[in-house]
Amino acid sequence: MIQFLVGFFTRIIKTIFFLEATRKFTFKNDNLGKLKHMQERFTNFRIIKDIFPFLWAKEEKVRSLFLISFSLILVSIFLNLSIPLILKEVVSTLSAPDRSMTYQLSLLLVTYGIIWTLSQTIQQIRQIIMVTPLEKSVRLFCAKLFDHLHSLPMKFHLDRKTGAITNALERAQNGFPNIFWGLFLFVIPPIIEIIFASIILSYYYDIIYGFILIFIATVFIIFTLYSTEWATHFQTLSNDQQSETNANIVDSLLNFASVKYFNNKSYENLKCESHLRKREELLVKSLSSMEFVRIGQSFIIGCGLVWLTYTAGKQTFLSVYNVSDFILINGYVLQFAAPLSFMGFIARDIRKSLNDFASIMEIYNTKSLIAHPNKSFVLAKQVDKIEFQNVSFGYESSRLVLKDVSFELHAGKTLAIVGPTGSGKSTISNLLFRFYNANAGTIFINNKDIQEVNIESLYNLLGIVPQDVTLFNTTIYENILYARPNALKEEVEEAIELAHLGSVLQRLPHHYDTVVGERGLKLSGGEKQRIAIARVLLKQPSLYIFDEATSSLDLSTEETIMNNITSIIKDSTSLIIAHRLSTVVNADEILVLNNGFVEERGTHTSLLKQQGFYASLWQTHEEAHKKPYAA
Ligand SMILES: Nc1ncnc2c1ncn2[C@@H]1O[C@H](COP(=O)(O)OP(=O)(O)OP(=O)(O)O)[C@@H](O)[C@H]1O
Ligand SMILES: [Mg+2]
Repeated sequence: MIQFLVGFFTRIIKTIFFLEATRKFTFKNDNLGKLKHMQERFTNFRIIKDIFPFLWAKEEKVRSLFLISFSLILVSIFLNLSIPLILKEVVSTLSAPDRSMTYQLSLLLVTYGIIWTLSQTIQQIRQIIMVTPLEKSVRLFCAKLFDHLHSLPMKFHLDRKTGAITNALERAQNGFPNIFWGLFLFVIPPIIEIIFASIILSYYYDIIYGFILIFIATVFIIFTLYSTEWATHFQTLSNDQQSETNANIVDSLLNFASVKYFNNKSYENLKCESHLRKREELLVKSLSSMEFVRIGQSFIIGCGLVWLTYTAGKQTFLSVYNVSDFILINGYVLQFAAPLSFMGFIARDIRKSLNDFASIMEIYNTKSLIAHPNKSFVLAKQVDKIEFQNVSFGYESSRLVLKDVSFELHAGKTLAIVGPTGSGKSTISNLLFRFYNANAGTIFINNKDIQEVNIESLYNLLGIVPQDVTLFNTTIYENILYARPNALKEEVEEAIELAHLGSVLQRLPHHYDTVVGERGLKLSGGEKQRIAIARVLLKQPSLYIFDEATSSLDLSTEETIMNNITSIIKDSTSLIIAHRLSTVVNADEILVLNNGFVEERGTHTSLLKQQGFYASLWQTHEEAHKKPYAA
């Protein structure tokens, strides 16, 4: 037997050392350093502190519901503590039967039953009440997080894989209630109960009983804290791997067409399998380390149980105490064995949830690009002037994409930006939308620095047909209506006509109720562009931005649409970015960008006269196309 026990414990210790060694190894080698770094920075305390305001929210009676639950928790603690005391009285009355005590005994027995039932019922009721404010807090938090995600800089979204964010969000949704449910119902109440029970035992019997109870609880808590921290390292690694795995799966599925174009299904399968394998290995380590923690917890509780019952049993045997006292002491011990062991289980769950929460809190604490989106200057509804003053900008610090760019665009005028691919044309519209901040120079709108204006009032002024049109996976009608959700049906239909979309819709079986597919993939490039044009026409912004708005259209459709657009925007201010120079010949000013610099500027005729870069671009264009809009 002894040999077996020694062998068993040696095996446990060896496995713990093995797991610890692999943990160190994996930490050195893991290539998910970024997420890890984030998680380490967020201590558990900081996470609780950050999410606490959502728990203690003034909205929707969250606070009062929590207060009711806490009061019920206190009542149930009181009831739980009184059960062994009543049982002691019952046993003591029964051990010295006395006819005159019959009434008292019946009263005690009935009270014992009532208190036990009440304690159980209140435990359930407090749970029912607690779930309401807790889920309200989860909703408030998730809504705020969603809002925050939309206000994060473009770079944040481009740097992250969608799968990883949705994965973290899902874990946060489950983690939030787990943390507080466990803490409020299964961690804090047993601790309070144990403190009171030790006071009662020390007061009525000997301080040793209170000491043993507190000592065992303390050892248990310290062990749980340290061992779960050790075990959560594996869980962190496994979480990261899980995010990475999901992100890769989502990325692969989003690119399903490319996978087919290049016949790379087996390559994708191999990649996915390798991720799944890593996930499996880490998950096994994570789960087994948690089980080792559980073994340790049971061992500590077992020791406490033996120590207390042995001490109390010996004293009873020596007639220092009578049987009813033994029942009381043993009652408290047994009463806490289950909650303590459960608390260990819950503590691991809380730790796991806190760990899950770390990456979401990093996102939540990422500063938005726009410091005070709502407090700043509110722009008037009309664009008077847009001005770029010596603007330089680079997506990365190592490379400038725009270099000392200056221009002015006055109300009612059209500015065209042309230039070779990658010269920085779309970047100008990205800066206007404040997706990024310029590194040097200033952008003014109505003579106000764009950094100081209210972002919503800025968005109200701008309307864009972007170079890459993305659509919501809903109907064509709803995609167009998105520009102005309160627009009338007739207005949407008018926008459809102007964007030359009617003929396209005729061909579709469900007309404008056709669902466009994920990111609009069920439509052709030209069809998507026409929807984008209809959308911007419906919005009727004060400044129109067309970024290669007709690049996917055939020449005759382009001509018709451009005619429509020109007549609509003739009194508006517009910025036209185009490769096809024929679309910009009528602009009031043309800015020729080359490698981030403004190479030339002027009207079409003056630029041709200069015989410079624009003239050579025009010549190439002329050779390739017929000139539908020549001045
Ligand atoms: N989010 C980004 N992060 C890093 N670099 C970027 C990013 N977006 C664009 N770039 C780089 O900035 C440069 C300018 O890009 P931009 O989209 O402004 O070019 P463009 O003139 O609109 O080209 P095109 O005519 O092909 O649309 C390019 O070299 C591009 O690779
Ligand atoms: Mg572009």
